[in-house]
Amino acid sequence: MIRTLVADLRDHIGETVTIAGWVQTLRLQRAMQFALIRDHTGTVQVTWKRDGGSLEKLLDGLTTESAVTVTGRVTANPVVALGGLEIIPAGVTVANVAETPLPIDEHTGPERRLDWRPLDVRLRPAARLVFDVQTTAEQAMREFAYSHGCTEMHTPKLMGTASESGAEVFRLGYFGRSAFLAQSPQFYKQMAIAAGIDRVFEIGPVFRAEPSYTSRHSTEFTGVDAELAWIDGLEDVLAFEEQLLSHAITAVVLRHGEAITQHTGTRVTVPALPFPRITMAQAQEVLRAGGWSGERDDLDPDGERRISAYVREQTGHEFAFVTHYPASVRPFYHMRQADRQDLTLSYDLLWNGLEITTGAQREHRYDVLVSQAAEKGLQPEPMSDYLNCFRYGCPPHGGFGLGLARLLMVMLGLDSIRDATFLFRGPTRLTP
Ligand code: 4AD
Ligand code: MG
Repeated sequence: MIRTLVADLRDHIGETVTIAGWVQTLRLQRAMQFALIRDHTGTVQVTWKRDGGSLEKLLDGLTTESAVTVTGRVTANPVVALGGLEIIPAGVTVANVAETPLPIDEHTGPERRLDWRPLDVRLRPAARLVFDVQTTAEQAMREFAYSHGCTEMHTPKLMGTASESGAEVFRLGYFGRSAFLAQSPQFYKQMAIAAGIDRVFEIGPVFRAEPSYTSRHSTEFTGVDAELAWIDGLEDVLAFEEQLLSHAITAVVLRHGEAITQHTGTRVTVPALPFPRITMAQAQEVLRAGGWSGERDDLDPDGERRISAYVREQTGHEFAFVTHYPASVRPFYHMRQADRQDLTLSYDLLWNGLEITTGAQREHRYDVLVSQAAEKGLQPEPMSDYLNCFRYGCPPHGGFGLGLARLLMVMLGLDSIRDATFLFRGPTRLTP
């Protein structure tokens, strides 16, 4: 079958073509039969004048969302609402009949829509658009990473010991012992740095065993991670990430800007460089002055929203790097500021009030790393493979982890991470 996409039909007026898609609407009248057929590029009307024949019978038996191919003549007809085009069929083939009624419609609530997610995505162009945008964003981020000297790595998601902290990690049976699912490629990215891979880039699955029931947490998500060797300081990491994001958002705006506005009402704009930076100390001062009473060392979701709003008010910018988090709220491997051992060379990136990234310069000096681990109450033995990377010539380095679904969520103005993920995974959802 040579398939013509609905969006391209205008180039085939007067020709006989074959289209393939789903029956969106059926209007079976006394003299005429109309079927609106939708593919992923648009919808077209198929028009048949009843003649008592087999085609008439087939059309009478159709149901909405049945998968069909239609071969027929593309005809210009100014009376047709859908772009002034219709197809006069010569043959219709039903590949798969849709049962009736459909299990979901436009009034179905969010949980049941998730139960029927493949159908939900098919029925709503706005839901489908997310994955086109994701494809473009990922491609652009890869492009940027490659052109800036990165090597793309695929690190294991199965681990023999719980990485980083031991908390938030899924344990599974592994030939008579336990294995754990990686909650970040962090240690493996750093092993790649120790392997002489100067700049590491990875897009891969991340697992979190947190019982979080918020609109921004899932138990499995896609992480975009980078790790850069021979950096002079944290600023090199910030500059890399802001350029990467600017490149990706530019690609999305060029390719999908109009469709995004049409389907979601959101206008995506390319952010100016550099992104504003604010230290945690400054952020805390601003927040206290505004009456916020959160934790002294960290930002809660309300604090993130407020500081993001403040930066936007001051600079007009949707992004904000919050830097220099206290060591008390950061992992042992974040490097400390030389003259302020209580602060880390780390950051979170907020976009319109939501954390989309955590990053840091890493501690690459073995003795310091071991003592920082001990300070956090961690034993060196279970992570000896990691620590060994710092015994035989490890360069200074830093990087970040960016949540892909969070990026899409903010970019498209979606209310929940469930809408930014094809098949959401949460504490109470492992299906479909
Ligand atoms: O902030 P996180 O936990 O940082 C790390 O994993 C570090 N190893 C990264 C580093 O220092 N280089 O996770 C990174 C990002 C978050 O900023 C957020 O965007 C996303 O991953 N994320 C989640 N996305 C969805 N559901 C969850 N439960 C998430 N937890 C983190
Ligand atoms: Mg974080």
